[in-house]
Amino acid sequence: MIDKTATSVKPTSIVAIGVGNRMRKYLTYVEQHPERARLVAVVEPDEIRRKAVAEKFEVPEDHCFNTYDDFFASDIDVEAAFICTPENDHYRPCMQALDRGCHVLLEKPAAQTPEHLDAISKKAREVGKEVCICHVLRYHPCFIKVKELIASGKYGRIISITHTEDVGLDRMCHSYVRGTMNSEKGNNPMLLAKCCHDIDFLLWLSEAKCVSVSSYGSLLWFRSENAPEGSASRCVHCDIEEKCPYSAVDLYWWRREWISNFDIPEGKTLDDVLRKELKEGNFGRCVYHCDNDVVDNQVVTMRMDDGSLITLHMDIFTQRDGRTTDIKMTGGEIFSDGKHIRATHFASRECSTFEYSSLNSNPFHGGADLRLVEQFLNAVRGEGKVKASTTIDEAIRVHQICLEADESRRSGEMRKLN
Ligand SMILES: NC(=O)c1ccc[n+]([C@@H]2O[C@H](COP(=O)([O-])OP(=O)(O)OC[C@H]3O[C@@H](n4cnc5c(N)ncnc54)[C@H](O)[C@@H]3O)[C@@H](O)[C@H]2O)c1
Repeated sequence: MIDKTATSVKPTSIVAIGVGNRMRKYLTYVEQHPERARLVAVVEPDEIRRKAVAEKFEVPEDHCFNTYDDFFASDIDVEAAFICTPENDHYRPCMQALDRGCHVLLEKPAAQTPEHLDAISKKAREVGKEVCICHVLRYHPCFIKVKELIASGKYGRIISITHTEDVGLDRMCHSYVRGTMNSEKGNNPMLLAKCCHDIDFLLWLSEAKCVSVSSYGSLLWFRSENAPEGSASRCVHCDIEEKCPYSAVDLYWWRREWISNFDIPEGKTLDDVLRKELKEGNFGRCVYHCDNDVVDNQVVTMRMDDGSLITLHMDIFTQRDGRTTDIKMTGGEIFSDGKHIRATHFASRECSTFEYSSLNSNPFHGGADLRLVEQFLNAVRGEGKVKASTTIDEAIRVHQICLEADESRRSGEMRKLN
């Protein structure tokens, strides 16, 4: 439930930088709570998106910008910046926002190098502003309950955690084979791009410090040498498209899934846009003939300073789309699939279950995206006892583990963390 009791004198003024898929979710909170936040400026190079958001929030034209450099060169005063630019462009706008004295809600990954992460943290301390990273799992009631069960002490101490992120075929083909996050060049390794959420969640559960990490993984399947006979460079020209589990025609045209990011220009229909995309766009390409290089399978093992072991599996070849967490403890075991939790107490043989599946029909990651914004605003406005979770300082460790694990995957060597 969103806390509607929090009140304040005037709404926090916000600039939205990068108004794509993620920002639209965070701005829903602003739309629902005009008394708490007000959008006063928009930065977005895509004209259709910029205009749509400006119109919806009644942002005047002279408060709309193509680039964040232009916005930060203006004298428009805002208290907070929401930054949801593509994942290789977070550091610069974040530093500029802090320089302007803004609090920052920053999409993950916070930055791509340890030096940049440290610089953000240092700057945030210097100017005394919040930088909250959008590691949204920690704002979801089911994941919060898992944390509470561990923290209760009833089940003893953690010996091991086995956690699986099922990225799933559709998401993989859309985002990491055909889409913008398909390449490490200029972007990020899969771990940082996708599993930083999981590493953040696991560190939060464990509270121990990770002392070493090892990882294996590769791009095993979505490679040109695996293209079946009869396939073509585009699904619309492919003889075996109807039998292919990765067909773009099936995903976008017939099932109408993963289409929310296809903008529809004025005078065009969704069908026009999909036809064009399938014929000419990146999302119409055969999965064996994309310029992708990110892994399609990866395992990470973390050794913690209390001796416990945490293992993360990133799985693609599944129709599941979600996370399972299996926690083995000295006095019991806790299992969660993100919808249900089962906690078993060894001595009493008591088994408790908790149900969250109804949240799955809630948009915005079961409401977690909205809670994240709320908590950020609470912290910015000095309201409530709770500070923003998922701070830049916690994110530094998460990012370090992701980067070191990927180094281990490449080198085949275990990496020690200091
Ligand atoms: N927290 C989560 O659960 C979650 C989920 C998905 C994506 N993400 C992250 O959110 C970020 C954005 O992803 P998305 O899915 O919204 O992508 P998107 O492509 O839908 O949106 C990004 C927007 O930024 C705009 N943009 C590009 N360059 C810009 C610039 N210089 N200044 C301002 N705007 C610019 C693009 O035109 C686009 O509209 C990425 O870092 C991604 O990894 C987070």
